[in-house]
Order: sequence, then structure tokens, then C-alpha cells
Amino acid sequence: MELLIREISAEDAQAVHLLSQQLGYELSVADTAAQIKEVLSRKDNYALVAVVNETIVGWIHAFKAIRIETKPFIEIGGLVVDEQYRSRGVGKKLVTRIKEWCAEQEIHSLRVRSNTKRSEAHQFYTRLGFTEKKEQKVFEMMV
Ligand SMILES: CC(C)(COP(=O)(O)OP(=O)(O)OC[C@H]1O[C@@H](n2cnc3c(N)ncnc32)[C@H](O)[C@@H]1OP(=O)(O)O)[C@@H](O)C(=O)NCCC(=O)NCCS
Repeated sequence: MELLIREISAEDAQAVHLLSQQLGYELSVADTAAQIKEVLSRKDNYALVAVVNETIVGWIHAFKAIRIETKPFIEIGGLVVDEQYRSRGVGKKLVTRIKEWCAEQEIHSLRVRSNTKRSEAHQFYTRLGFTEKKEQKVFEMMV
């Protein structure tokens, strides 16, 4: 399997949208394209797609997170690999490229928040060398 990793583009919105649906996210194609453009406009955001035979089979988005109380870190905001292409090293390759971007940014802490119900993803991150830091609840209100 020949795997190409490249930076995301707004033209990838349809494929990215379909993969996001596998994760349960329902943003429209147009809104996905707008989000991709926003990511591309920011130097502290970085997103990649994984391509096999000209088909997008995965994507990853990472961003620089700033907190008052800690040094900056890079956070993986989203990662999904097509169900039909899992367990073939695609996710690992995408994370590896994000690790390289971290090094370029001279930021040496990479984090990801993962829903407690995604036990498969937890095994994946552990396998890649992440260690569990804490469990959290996420609160939201409409304003
Ligand atoms: C989690 C996910 C991105 C992994 O991608 P993938 O391409 O299947 O993973 P890889 O093939 O690159 O696996 C890398 C390593 O993790 C291990 N791994 C991957 N999935 C695993 C699982 N379910 N259980 C145990 N180990 C797993 C692989 O065995 C491999 O180990 P190795 O390097 O020793 O061979 C993919 O399963 C996915 O998209 N899941 C749904 C979306 C999701 O949960 N995203 C994360 C949101 S935070």
C-alpha cells in the first residue's frame, strides 16, 4: 500500500466530511471546507491528510495550545482513519508527522483528549508512546 501524507486543502472537504461522519460528527461539507480554510490561515494550526491511490483515507489536525499555567503544548484536535484502512499504520504515520511539526515548533509536549468511550483509540495512543495524564469532563453552554 503506497501511503502519501500531505497538507490538507479546502478541496478535501468532501472526503474529510465523510471520514468525520464515521466519528459521529455532522458538520456539512461547506462548513468543513470553511474550517479547513480557517486552519490553513493560522500558523499555529496544522492539518494533514493520508492518501492511498488518490483516495483520502485519514486526516489529522493539531494546534498550538496556550495556557497561562503551563508551557505551550501541541494538541491533536482530531484524527480519523477510514474504517477500511485501519491497522495498516496510517494513524501512526499521521501522528509521526505531527511529532515532526512539534519539533519544528520547538514544542516538546504533544497531547490529545480522547472520549473515555474510545477504548480502541486509547490503545492506539498508548502503543504510540503516549501516557495517560488525567480524565476530564467537558462542560458547554450556548451563549
Ligand atoms: C485510532 C485510529 C486513528 C488508529 O489508526 P490506525 O491507522 O488504525 O492505527 P495504526 O495502524 O497506525 O496503529 C498504530 C499502532 O497502534 C496499534 N493499534 C491501533 N489500533 C489499535 C487497537 N484498536 N487496539 C490495539 N492496538 C491498536 C497498532 O497495532 C499499531 O501498533 P504497532 O505500531 O506496534 O504495529 C483509528 O482506529 C480511528 O480512526 N479510530 C476512530 C476514530 C478515533 O477514535 N480517533 C481518535 C479520536 S481521539
